[in-house]
Amino acid sequence: MDILTEIENRRALRAIAPEPLGEDQIERLLRAATLAPSCFNYQPWRLVAVTGDRLPALREALTEGNKWATRAPLIVVLATKPSLDCRSDQGRDYATFDLGLAAMSLMLQATKEGLRAHPIAGYNPVKAAKAVGLPEDYTAFNLIIVGKPGDESLLAEWQLEREHGARQRKALSEVAFRDSWDRPW
Ligand SMILES: Cc1cc2nc3c(=O)[nH]c(=O)nc-3n(C[C@H](O)[C@H](O)[C@H](O)COP(=O)(O)O)c2cc1C
Repeated sequence: MDILTEIENRRALRAIAPEPLGEDQIERLLRAATLAPSCFNYQPWRLVAVTGDRLPALREALTEGNKWATRAPLIVVLATKPSLDCRSDQGRDYATFDLGLAAMSLMLQATKEGLRAHPIAGYNPVKAAKAVGLPEDYTAFNLIIVGKPGDESLLAEWQLEREHGARQRKALSEVAFRDSWDRPW
């Protein structure tokens, strides 16, 4: 059996068109995110879908290397705080874990709809939080840059190489094990 098509097809691509997305489509992406599992069903994700007046300030928060993202018609700010989710021993704070699950759900739905949905950490989190009015105790943990496929004019040389290159992954033997840590896959 093959890997699911959306999992195979999802790529963190950067050539994105400025064309606006439909309201229904944006809502579907948000709903997909909220269908993710979470510890005790606490649903710690808070998702700010930015398409309007806050977009310029949010774009200002992006790092130089993420200039390509300024074209996107939609940026989803994924925010949370530890107290919204399970907090267990050994540093097992599940808020960001569950936020990641929601992010993947959103990205797979976007992929299914022919969109690009690219998660980024390269931004000033304080500026990003301010841009969308997050309460003080929330962190803007990730931004997902979303849009239809577009042209490549904002991409740096190395980004163009990635855009067209094969996907890079560690071998299963480096990251997976059979029964015990001392038995690599
Ligand atoms: C938490 C996180 C932060 C990332 N930050 C950035 C970023 O700031 N800029 C960027 O261009 N890509 C960023 N990426 C995308 C990764 O570089 C990309 O997912 C990785 O190279 C694997 O490629 P693939 O998603 O196409 O398989 C980020 C991805 C994740 C999950």
